[in-house]
Amino acid sequence: MSKQTFFSGVQPSGNLHLGNYLGAIKNWADIQEEYNAICCVVNLHAITVPQDPEELKRKTIEVAKLYIASGLDPEKVTIFRQSDVPQHAELMWLLNTITKTGELFKMTQFKDKSGIQSNGATEKISVGAGLLNYPVLMAADILIYDANLVPVGEDQTQHIEITRTLARRFNKKFEEVFTIPDIYTSPAGKKIMSLTEPLKKMSKSAESANSRIELLDEPDVIRKKIMKATTDGENKIYYNDEPEKAGLKNLLNIFSIITDSTPEQIAEDYKDKGYGDLKKDLADVLVEYLKPIQEKFNLITDEEVLNIFAKSKNELLPLAEKKLAIAKEAIGLE
Ligand code: TYM
Repeated sequence: MSKQTFFSGVQPSGNLHLGNYLGAIKNWADIQEEYNAICCVVNLHAITVPQDPEELKRKTIEVAKLYIASGLDPEKVTIFRQSDVPQHAELMWLLNTITKTGELFKMTQFKDKSGIQSNGATEKISVGAGLLNYPVLMAADILIYDANLVPVGEDQTQHIEITRTLARRFNKKFEEVFTIPDIYTSPAGKKIMSLTEPLKKMSKSAESANSRIELLDEPDVIRKKIMKATTDGENKIYYNDEPEKAGLKNLLNIFSIITDSTPEQIAEDYKDKGYGDLKKDLADVLVEYLKPIQEKFNLITDEEVLNIFAKSKNELLPLAEKKLAIAKEAIGLE
């Protein structure tokens, strides 16, 4: 029986961090043997907010290098640049015509980025239409390859839900063209929180670099960020859901994922120690954990990545073209 397909992607905006790794890329690497894996560098999504052209090019290559450094085998996994397969954008247009604007205005990510607050009040931030249509392009990314599974962090699940809705809607309105994809989020890594504001998720775009451990951070930077991480004044180590303990909970969570333990067990191991001890040990473990990724990253050349992009493009173009043609025919365009 042929393998099922998974599709996922990361935006080449900002620096990749531990949340991107534990919530997404690590999970892709873990299942790459079982699936036909398609891993995209979503540069068209990145330009929904302003990007410097040279920096965008550089980051696009950097993300692909980090995929490989994180254990994705480019011989087995299709690693590609979203803009190399223009059919994504064309399918997005078709899907736009069956998407309601209300569905898009409701998306949490759009609300956050456009300054719509939970009480409905708006700060006056002017945003591009691309930001509103962002989830429709995601739907096109996924549906064009008949992906069965989309492994993502928790913040993206709403976008995969709308992908499922659009696929069902298209299939009902026209013909059974699209596969309905399942969502996969890993129980432990699905939401890594900010180190400085632990009630918010760790994010590439947060202003303070101290809020995130970047995958390419130097050891002393990692140590400094962990030692500075927000905790609480109690200096007592236990694992629970009280908002005051959110900082500690996040550190215990990260510690447990990278040492293959449970946060409860780590809390038990440190119950007679202080936050300083926990942080120091976590920093050491993190430095060691990221070292092989960083070493491998430094060995991959830009040229290797560009060759991989070229090869993937040749493989994917006919698949995307075929699916797009079926969708266009179902609508009456061809
Ligand atoms: P992006 O670039 O924001 O994030 C990439 C992946 O990292 C996950 N992630 C996190 N997981 C746990 N904790 C965190 N703090 C954290 N921050 C980010 C994200 O959930 C994501 O899985 N729109 C997507 C990219 C995309 C895509 C797609 C994904 C475009 N097309 C099709 C899947 C399928 C994004 O902006 O991810």
